[in-house]
Amino acid sequence: MCGIVGIIGNKPAAPRLLEGLKRLEYRGYDSAGIATLENGHLDRRRASGKLFNLEAAQEADPLNGPIGIGHTRWASHGAPTVKNAHPIAAGTVAVVHNGIIENFLDLKSELEGHGKIFDTDTDTEVVAQLVAREIENGATPKQAVGTVLPRLEGAFALVFLFDGDTQTLIGARKGSPLALGKGEGEMYLGSDAIALAPLTSQVIYLEEGDWVVLSHTGHEIFDLTGAPVQRPWQQTSAYALLIDKGNHRNFMVKEIFDQPEVIGHTFANYIDLASRTVKQDALKVEFANLERLTVCACGTAFYAGMAAKYWFEKYARLPVDVDIASEFRYREAPLDKNGLALFISQSGETADTLAALQYCRDNGQKIASIVNVQESTIARDSDMIIPTFAGPEVGVASTKAFTCQLTVLACLAIAAGRARGHLTSAQEIALVSSLIGVPRHVADITNRSDEIEGVAKRIITARDILFLGRGINYPIALEGALKLKEISYIHAEGYAAGELKHGPIALVDDNVPVIIVAPRDNLFEKTVSNMQEVAARGGQIIMITDADEREGIGTELFDLIHVPKADAFINPLLYAIPVQLLAYHAAVLLGTDVDQPRNLAKSVTIE
Ligand code: AGP
Repeated sequence: MCGIVGIIGNKPAAPRLLEGLKRLEYRGYDSAGIATLENGHLDRRRASGKLFNLEAAQEADPLNGPIGIGHTRWASHGAPTVKNAHPIAAGTVAVVHNGIIENFLDLKSELEGHGKIFDTDTDTEVVAQLVAREIENGATPKQAVGTVLPRLEGAFALVFLFDGDTQTLIGARKGSPLALGKGEGEMYLGSDAIALAPLTSQVIYLEEGDWVVLSHTGHEIFDLTGAPVQRPWQQTSAYALLIDKGNHRNFMVKEIFDQPEVIGHTFANYIDLASRTVKQDALKVEFANLERLTVCACGTAFYAGMAAKYWFEKYARLPVDVDIASEFRYREAPLDKNGLALFISQSGETADTLAALQYCRDNGQKIASIVNVQESTIARDSDMIIPTFAGPEVGVASTKAFTCQLTVLACLAIAAGRARGHLTSAQEIALVSSLIGVPRHVADITNRSDEIEGVAKRIITARDILFLGRGINYPIALEGALKLKEISYIHAEGYAAGELKHGPIALVDDNVPVIIVAPRDNLFEKTVSNMQEVAARGGQIIMITDADEREGIGTELFDLIHVPKADAFINPLLYAIPVQLLAYHAAVLLGTDVDQPRNLAKSVTIE
């Protein structure tokens, strides 16, 4: 993640930009920079490393002027050097960016074909160059940005500043958050309310696809088609500024909607977005000669490990034992000499997982852990830490941490496949390319939240609910059942779809919704036949699928939740979103405490 701030004001912008960036340093600090307009002249100060380096640069040669933009960078494209530090400039345009422009290579070759010379290794520069080119061809800044935005693929937030134009600041959001604020004759933009806290407590959270043109005294918001839209002003509370819920009613739904940004931030740490390969040094794990991988975790993290088993065995031909830590720690599993044990934990403090780690350590295993809290106990007790970059997860029901765990595991599986000679370079590039598209697909699904709420309304009176899935979708069915029961308190059970006829089908009648996780993959036909078994017994079938009516799902469905078509490799990441939203909406409709469900704790630090 990166941090963004912008001010169109009536007093020096630079000190206030720096103040806002300080509050955003948690988002990244590989480099930082500001740009201001002094008497309309655009100038920049940038520095690699921590923010105090930028403060020193500003002190040494101050930027003046009442309008400016600022950025703290967590490098995704291009080394964290001054050259690649934002704001990135081209022609009369300066821009700061948080997220990923997926199609930047195509856009870059188009621009280079028109003779444009690039100064940086960043994806961001294609945005600056495209907008600058529009302005060179006579467009106004607003027209230029409105023309360029629809061409950009990916999940991003952008803020633009224009040389010579002291009356305009433009911001855009698509998958990464952006808020606008208002002061006395001033307007502001920031990644979140925390960045704007020193300036104002009156904010508007831009919605997906919104872009905004700011003047000193007003704003115009447009949707992606360029149609004007209205968004409400909100008063941010002091508490909210500590960990900002944004315009969300609770942390869980904020964290569900954070996923496009944090998944992108996580994989940017492990893949080279230009070459579309997994970074050799980022994953620190030796797979080439490994005989077997032991994976241990609890709850949702365990389901991430279950999904990863399919990836490791399919793409790397690596046998995997995956187990819930509370069972593993007592079953005295025989372990390969010099084997590798992988632990997955959001908190890094789960007692059962820690105890399983100790068992593996005592039995000569190398220890790797995928954690979201890098200074946690599990991390400290590991030989290799492979962090997720989900940011603080406050909701007890794990959502963004789960998809970030899957993201890291997908990168590990690709790295293992390459190291063990089971993935060609072309296959690696194809898998990585599909991973790069995940933020955009996830944003598409979260945009359908209202549709999923409609489905939730139809299941909240059920006594029991079954979740079914085959293959790698089976762990997602288990996760869906866990999400639903832990926050809505409805009894739900996840099952391998093929197991239905071995008993659970006795549960099925017209009071039991059966939710089927069914991407159009190689097992789809089998899943459809399971569905027909359910339909024949009056079961209420809710299908989560990318298939359409023409593809064998003619059976009278109780409901359908659509997921974008994508490479089967990334389906676990995509299909996690609808089951999260289904559970979330059911819980809200039932009035339970979504962020702190009864009987639960965010981190189970006891046996
Ligand atoms: C998930 O929604 C639950 N809150 C719970 O199952 C959780 O995943 C489990 O306790 C493991 O926690 P950890 O990832 O912090 O180790």
